[in-house]
Amino acid sequence: MIEKQLGPIGVMDSGVGGISVLRELVKLLPGEDFLYYGDSAHAPYGTKEVAEVVKLTERIAELLLEKGSKALVVACNTATSVAIPVLRKTYSHVPVIGIEPALKPAVLAKDHPRVLVMATPMTLEQEKFSNMMHFYENDANIVKVPCPGLVELIEDGILDGPELEAYLEARFAPFEPETADGIVLGCTHYPLIRPKIASLFPRATIYDGGYGTAKQTRRRLEECGLLSPKQSGGKVTFLNSKNDPRILALSRKLLEL
Ligand code: DGL
Repeated sequence: MIEKQLGPIGVMDSGVGGISVLRELVKLLPGEDFLYYGDSAHAPYGTKEVAEVVKLTERIAELLLEKGSKALVVACNTATSVAIPVLRKTYSHVPVIGIEPALKPAVLAKDHPRVLVMATPMTLEQEKFSNMMHFYENDANIVKVPCPGLVELIEDGILDGPELEAYLEARFAPFEPETADGIVLGCTHYPLIRPKIASLFPRATIYDGGYGTAKQTRRRLEECGLLSPKQSGGKVTFLNSKNDPRILALSRKLLEL
């Protein structure tokens, strides 16, 4: 059992976005080792066919498990919304943790708030999100803001500057940013540019699911007796489908930010 407990936690995303979740995981579970797989060669996922994203996600899960992962964290809202039931069924012997847009805290923060949900087109089109939106529709004014193209900028390491600013200003122009109470970052790439988004919404509170996912991971490991006995000194290993040292350098930089 102790050998199992010492295995790494496999974390996956379509690229570098899941590092926003990895940061929270490392903070909450400092004794754990992490194996992070970014599928940057196939990013973005959010504008592909659902079947293709399911297949890509399964392939990464397989690889992370072959490398000894004791649990899988799908640190991608898009992959979670289309592939999590399949992953949980296929890999029922390990905990599989997903992430979803942090709509609940944004809706419950005040009386009938106006909440903008930024995510990939695929996440916002799924039944999973529609159900969540219907559940809260009487409690808040929820506005979907699909952001095609934004993942690509972040994958290119554009976390600041005129190109990103022009994208965000154009994207939010129709949504009256000044009237928003809450912004939900429903894609794990977006917390990496959180200061830029926050600067456009002086009144709004920004929400993301990273911390909640880290807490859920700890809870599941605890339930399964898989928490590492180590309290500190965990290490992070990055793997990426793009055979490019720049993406690994960007990954390490994003973890330190
Ligand atoms: N980080 C992924 C997410 O949370 C981005 C998906 C994509 O590659 O489009 O949805």
